[in-house]
Amino acid sequence: MSTVMAARGEVVELMLEVPKGQVISYDLARLCSALDVTDPTRIAVETDGARRAIVTIYPSNPLADMPPPSPDDMLMDRHGRIVVGRYHNGRPARRRLFDPSTGSAQRALTFGTTGAGKSRTVQYVLACEKRNGIVSWYADLKGGQSAPEAAGQVDWHATTQEAAILMLRAAVAVAQERMRRYSAIGRNAFVVGNPDPLLSVRVDEANRLLEMGAPYRDEATHLVKELGRTGRSVGVGEELDAQAAHLEELGGSDTLRAMLKEGEVTLLRWSGSMMRQLVTDGLLPSGEQLMPIPKSLRPRVLRSQFDAGADDDDDAPGTQGTGYLLSGPHPTSMMRHFRVGSIAPTPGLDPEILALYGPGEPARLETASHEAAGVAYAVRDDPAAMAALCDALRAAYAQQAGPVPIADGQPGQPGGQPRRSAARLGDRILAVLAAAEEPMTAGEIRDAVLADGGREVSKGSVHNTLGVLADAGEIARLDRGLYALAR
Ligand SMILES: Nc1ncnc2c1ncn2[C@@H]1O[C@H](COP(=O)(O)OP(=O)(O)O)[C@@H](O)[C@H]1O
Ligand SMILES: [Mg+2]
Repeated sequence: MSTVMAARGEVVELMLEVPKGQVISYDLARLCSALDVTDPTRIAVETDGARRAIVTIYPSNPLADMPPPSPDDMLMDRHGRIVVGRYHNGRPARRRLFDPSTGSAQRALTFGTTGAGKSRTVQYVLACEKRNGIVSWYADLKGGQSAPEAAGQVDWHATTQEAAILMLRAAVAVAQERMRRYSAIGRNAFVVGNPDPLLSVRVDEANRLLEMGAPYRDEATHLVKELGRTGRSVGVGEELDAQAAHLEELGGSDTLRAMLKEGEVTLLRWSGSMMRQLVTDGLLPSGEQLMPIPKSLRPRVLRSQFDAGADDDDDAPGTQGTGYLLSGPHPTSMMRHFRVGSIAPTPGLDPEILALYGPGEPARLETASHEAAGVAYAVRDDPAAMAALCDALRAAYAQQAGPVPIADGQPGQPGGQPRRSAARLGDRILAVLAAAEEPMTAGEIRDAVLADGGREVSKGSVHNTLGVLADAGEIARLDRGLYALAR
């Protein structure tokens, strides 16, 4: 391995390179040991994924103190990006809110364990959206506690799981409505403000909606997927903020895989198994490592019990907001978000955060889509009417709960999986076979089912449902793997 060293002030930069034919890899703990550095946050390693790496050694953590954002940071540049913080080397860390080159709304995921800074990041982006004239729909599944300042600063503020479902349904309907309107005028790329503003739909604590056993998991997963599919080209973006050890916990990993691959992914301080999962999901190339983010900046120092005055200092500064922008140009480069609001809790709303939103009303959904957005949108600021809609949703689910006769790939769960989506696949298959002139194979049936524009179904669930329908005598299994309606 060859090494070039450059030092400026007390910052030491090592440029490392392995011989051709090899791929650079490293072990963080050993690297710290070799450099005799006990505080790992003083070291930054960035590789090009091939032969080269830069190792930077700082006199102290370079991200210990972050400034608040400036108004300029909050405005989209010509590439649709805002500045969310700084990389360890002081360079601006950017995140895309919109891609003007393709006219695509963005899909975003922000992961991190409790207290890592997800909701502050959310507030910052919401404030940026307000300043950029983007319509924000925000569901805070901690009952509105995650970002209380957002109330009144966004177009729709939902605080329950039921309201989040209504919001997601409305968002899908708006995307479909926009699609209809745009195709009617022959428009094939989204142009901001012409005629409609960008709409950004965000669910904070999304794990509560999508985790195993959550009451609306199936529908929420479906809506998130659907919005990801349809929203992009019509200016409707979506973001999920979640703590999750496994992507499987968030509605099954295939829901999120596309979002992960193409979306804006931010990883804040994480819990144990998350990293392995990201590698498994192909998000981080294996061999790449991210310097773990400690909870506080107190270096681990070994102290003898006989040392006088070795009292631990509990006031070590935290690392909230520190993370990695995995989809940015420097995925392995540690960054930290700007200081958003006060570090110490404030009684009531935080004036610094309110100031970030700035004065005035937030942007509103275009009138042309109000009908599509439906009654939930119309009554979003009327607590009694919204509560009644949420009650109705809960009641509809309670009615559908029970054993699922035709499983949609998943067995019915105690606590009530919705029956609607499960029964529907059977109905869709029967409709396909009723319309067919000739018997069909399972593969042809699946293709035809997918072509009806309903929800995505896996090969496995089509197979299972065919089996159930055949056993029930509704369809006939012919030879050569063909199926037909039973006569
Ligand atoms: N960017 C930030 N600037 C200032 N303080 C922050 C920032 N991010 C997090 N904090 C501090 O950490 C606490 C937890 O952050 P929060 O965003 O609520 O975490 P999470 O949503 O991941 O649980 C906040 O109350 C705040 O004190
Ligand atoms: Mg939070």
